[in-house]
Amino acid sequence: MSVVAAVETVALRKRYPKVEALRGVSLRIEPGEIFALLGPNGAGKTTWISVVCGLVRPTDGSAAVMGHDVVREAMAARRLVGLVPQEVVFDPFFTPREALRFQMGYFGVRPDGARIDEVLAAVGLSDKADTNARELSGGMKRRLLIAKALVHRPKVVFLDEPTAGVDVELRRDLWAYVRRVRAEGATIVLTTHYLEEAEQLADRVAVIDRGALIALDRPATLLARHGEKRIRVELGSPLEALPPPLAARGATVDASRRVLECPFPAHGVSDLLCDLAALQGVVDLRTEQPSLEQVFLALTGGEKR
Ligand SMILES: Nc1ncnc2c1ncn2[C@@H]1O[C@H](COP(=O)(O)OP(=O)(O)OP(=O)(O)O)[C@@H](O)[C@H]1O
Ligand SMILES: [Mg+2]
Repeated sequence: MSVVAAVETVALRKRYPKVEALRGVSLRIEPGEIFALLGPNGAGKTTWISVVCGLVRPTDGSAAVMGHDVVREAMAARRLVGLVPQEVVFDPFFTPREALRFQMGYFGVRPDGARIDEVLAAVGLSDKADTNARELSGGMKRRLLIAKALVHRPKVVFLDEPTAGVDVELRRDLWAYVRRVRAEGATIVLTTHYLEEAEQLADRVAVIDRGALIALDRPATLLARHGEKRIRVELGSPLEALPPPLAARGATVDASRRVLECPFPAHGVSDLLCDLAALQGVVDLRTEQPSLEQVFLALTGGEKR
């Protein structure tokens, strides 16, 4: 017997008049996962989230939240989700406390002052709880959106670029809070253009490009498959010729001929150091770990490094 997926889309398509935003995306997110959806601008991330959250109708294929089809059982599916939208939309006439009270009511949860205080504290808005929303700064409005998405304890939380435009402190606090929400049993789906966030937080990442899924795996697996650890050596004066043992290792020199890069071997690092010892005038040496950013750029055909 298989566990019901937190989110499952099968061959999901969304055609807009000028563009096919989703070209058949099949994706299954397990309960309790922190899942990152990555992709360049216009890839279809927000469209995918919007279909799953019942805001946009799919052209073809299906989407379900905890087994509830988002079209046929729209209300049941909608009640299970919390969404931090990419665009800041808010009602300027309410205070954060009032907005959260309405949000709980809207989702059929009994308004609970202690819960509201807890969520306001988590997003750092306690001292603005009773200020009109129109008096909040841009980052504070985004914090309020995050609070609204979480206050009713949704089973699946969608965070569509929640950290765009928020300060370093909230970013750190938010991710700590996201981990806590997951520990309490929720599933988290996030998009971000800060790939180090996805690398640190996500159990699995999906990369979509032009409406299609192009990679899906654990960050470590993607790094092992597509990334390469390298050693970088800087020389005090230009290198005349690349020593053959280093050339055989796939080492390259840059245009200045003062920076040499070589793949870092999985075994036999001492042998590599011996080969490097032949170089004269080494002034710096470091290893470079592959990052999810490099993998992402390689996969999506963006500029390398
Ligand atoms: N309401 C809409 N009407 C028509 N086209 C749309 C609409 N919303 C999105 N699109 C188009 O669908 C494609 C996917 O857009 P989407 O917003 O899903 O991308 P995204 O991956 O979220 O990008 P970003 O990283 O910039 O947020 C784009 O080509 C976009 O122009
Ligand atoms: Mg988007």
